[in-house]
Amino acid sequence: MSQRETTLTEFIIREQRRFPQATGGFTGLLNYIRLACKRISFVVGRGALGGATGTAGTANVQGETQMKLDVLANEIFVRTNEYGGHLAAMASEEMDAPYVIPDPELRGRYLLVFDPLDGSSNIDVNVSVGSIFSVLKCPEGVTQPTAADFLQPGSRQLCAGYAIYGPTTMLVLTLGNGVHGFTLDRGFGEFILTHENMRIPVDTREFAINTSNERFWEPPVKRYVEECVAGRNGPRGADFNMRWIASMVAEVHRILIRGGLFMYPKDTKDPSKPGRLRLMYEANPMAMIVEQAGGAASTGRERIMDVVPTDLHQRVPVILGSRNEVERIERYHRESDQGLDQPYTSPLFRERSLFTQ
Ligand code: AHG
Ligand code: MN
Ligand code: MN
Repeated sequence: MSQRETTLTEFIIREQRRFPQATGGFTGLLNYIRLACKRISFVVGRGALGGATGTAGTANVQGETQMKLDVLANEIFVRTNEYGGHLAAMASEEMDAPYVIPDPELRGRYLLVFDPLDGSSNIDVNVSVGSIFSVLKCPEGVTQPTAADFLQPGSRQLCAGYAIYGPTTMLVLTLGNGVHGFTLDRGFGEFILTHENMRIPVDTREFAINTSNERFWEPPVKRYVEECVAGRNGPRGADFNMRWIASMVAEVHRILIRGGLFMYPKDTKDPSKPGRLRLMYEANPMAMIVEQAGGAASTGRERIMDVVPTDLHQRVPVILGSRNEVERIERYHRESDQGLDQPYTSPLFRERSLFTQ
């Protein structure tokens, strides 16, 4: 008999069996997250037919204009996950404060953090968007969680994943044992394991950054991009390719498939914001996925998952993807902070110079 395909449900049950003490609560939670992503996929896929394109006319806690689908996707995530009995509270990009499960009887042991719709500026132009999520343990003894209970470093995430709503809908998941991709079979409505054990190549010749911010970048980022753009006659001795989709989910997905580097670095555009992306529901889940796939995720100065959060909606610089390139940019940050890179165009700082062995 030919081998049967593995559904996401079967995969989660298989993972659960690795932990004999597991109660099945976590498995149940993942089933609700999966259902939320399927619902959002359906709404996103209907586009203008569902009347959900355009802006909602409101702003979220970060002052960003909300799209109708930002609000709707948030609603779907909350409503789908609140009755399962697995969660104590949820926090999202689109909610100022955590949503505590109203019925104390239905409060569970986990906290869910999510970006219900990432890349939402792309919705009206029909380019890939996604949902990002992360699961944390509710601290022992806490029955009425507050924002402070969510402020755990990314290294404490139990699971992270995203759904990408592109030409196909995929759910990409890590439970701390590699990264696995599932494609939604729209025929019978289940995610099927299609990309087992996704790995990010350690080297790449492709980078992604919004170059319209170049004048605000710090020297190490300017240095890195200049060297890439200089191509085969520059210090890297190779031509590089560039991409920018303005949808982190789509950028990370591309990197998981064929390698690459993604950066939304620290810049001086608005000194009150040390980056564009949010730590809790964008950077941390993606960092866990990227590390689990053999890549690296850094602020440029520290591992993203080591950052101790101080605010639910705090922003953080993000540099992630193929390990050797991320480590190179970390080195450029160190050299810059020690004043060793001025001017970084000097021949002394070229590859194989006396400063870089
Ligand atoms: P969101 O739609 O959840 O606000 O996130 C968009 C993020 C991210 O997906 C993307 O990498 C970045 O913002 C794009 O920012 P720019 O428009 O500044 O390029
Ligand atoms: Mn986002
Ligand atoms: Mn969003």
